Amino acid sequence: MIPGPKIIRLTGESFPFCTKVHVNLTPSITPEQAHFIGGEFTKHCEKLFEGCPVDPRDEMNINLILAPAGIPVPPGHYFLIIKPSDITLASETYEGLLYAWQTLKQHLYNTAYFTETGTDIECLQIADWPSFPWRGLHLDVSRHFFDYKFVRRYLDWMAAFKLNKFHWHLSDDQGWRIESKRFPLLHEQGAWRTEADGSSYGGYYTQRQIKLVLKHAEERGIEVIPEIDVPGHAMAILAAYPDLACFPQEFQTLSVWGISEDILCAGKDSVIDFLKDLFTEVAELFPGQYIHLGGDEAPKARWKECPHCQQRIAGQNLANAGELQSWLVQTLAQHLQGLGKTVIGWDEILDGNIDSQPVVMAWRGDGIAAARKAHDNGNRYIICPNSKLYFDWKYLADKNLPGAHGVTTLQDVYHLDLAQYRFQNKKLFLGGQANLWTEHVPDSRTAKDLLGWRIYALSELFWSDPQTKDYSEFWERIWAMREIF
Ligand code: ACM
Ligand code: ZN
Repeated sequence: MIPGPKIIRLTGESFPFCTKVHVNLTPSITPEQAHFIGGEFTKHCEKLFEGCPVDPRDEMNINLILAPAGIPVPPGHYFLIIKPSDITLASETYEGLLYAWQTLKQHLYNTAYFTETGTDIECLQIADWPSFPWRGLHLDVSRHFFDYKFVRRYLDWMAAFKLNKFHWHLSDDQGWRIESKRFPLLHEQGAWRTEADGSSYGGYYTQRQIKLVLKHAEERGIEVIPEIDVPGHAMAILAAYPDLACFPQEFQTLSVWGISEDILCAGKDSVIDFLKDLFTEVAELFPGQYIHLGGDEAPKARWKECPHCQQRIAGQNLANAGELQSWLVQTLAQHLQGLGKTVIGWDEILDGNIDSQPVVMAWRGDGIAAARKAHDNGNRYIICPNSKLYFDWKYLADKNLPGAHGVTTLQDVYHLDLAQYRFQNKKLFLGGQANLWTEHVPDSRTAKDLLGWRIYALSELFWSDPQTKDYSEFWERIWAMREIF
């Protein structure tokens, strides 16, 4: 199973699985939740056991218990108990029940594959819980656009491996991707770019499609974190609203990769008002706790020349353009906190002075220096080190394989040593995620190929956090599950 459960005991018994399932629910489970889990059961069991011999007289009882455990248990904890008489999934939370179901599903797959008759399943008892609350996967939909149906499949893959945070990179220099009711030029203009061959490329999600994705995520216990990257990586915004630049001119949504010198002006009050309005709209659309406001790779050349930015630096007693960026982050973070949200930013947000409220994503290099800096400043942090958890990198050193820059193998991901990121206050280390940037990922097939088996290692890292690692044992478990993914 992946991720490997914390405590597992095989009882030595087994019994013939029956596809005729009777599900018993505690009343604490809502009809929507029951409908979702019940539907998943039926769908998966029918598919898995299609054509297998089953005993037509039997009906199997599955108990779904959503109730206090009666003993102190960690967040996300669940029990899975498989007996010849019945199967019980129990948790204090809906998410925990989903985790139990994913574990049961994997167990059924393994069993179905390995037994002679294809129907016997082994009895067991599992108690399991995640080591980290943040187990994430990111998707850049700006460099290449992936429609909302693909995004739902992406969430299915995440759910199968108990990943619970979907980081949706919705804006960048190469395209803006959400319908905005307040600033419609963002999607009417900023969602499109002209490629070198003269063709138009782009797309965006309507607010209705976003709601469909959010419902899909909620059913699967996944929180969606929207990222609107500011003040850099904002050429699509500037193409729609050029007055937001330090020096307005006609801007184009970019069709080449890289870092743009043109960024949003942090000096003009009109820009601050625009960003507050925009983030308010985003906060209303996305019900989750977190909003990501980017903050990476914002060159300060324009700010150094801009009279508005210079006036802001003087007026706020800031030392330089670096501190102006942290002033901007701080201003937007306070606005979003007023709306009940928690802000996340890439580790550059630590370059000036920020308070301990924003959550930091440590990405540069191995992320250790950034994680320590966040920790020492009292900020919670999530790791996604560029050198280990960027899944747009190739999974093998073969120039014919898809992917960018360097190489991050399955072994590299599995062997990432989390102890390097743990400092005195362990609670500040929320967990980690892998990022899938899409400059070199033109389509969904390539995206899936790049996730590949590395998603297993990601899941294992932040759910199981194995204290001793055994790659060949891990490999055995991957092999047993290869039919699923
Ligand atoms: C990043 O990779 N620019 C966060
Ligand atoms: Zn400016």
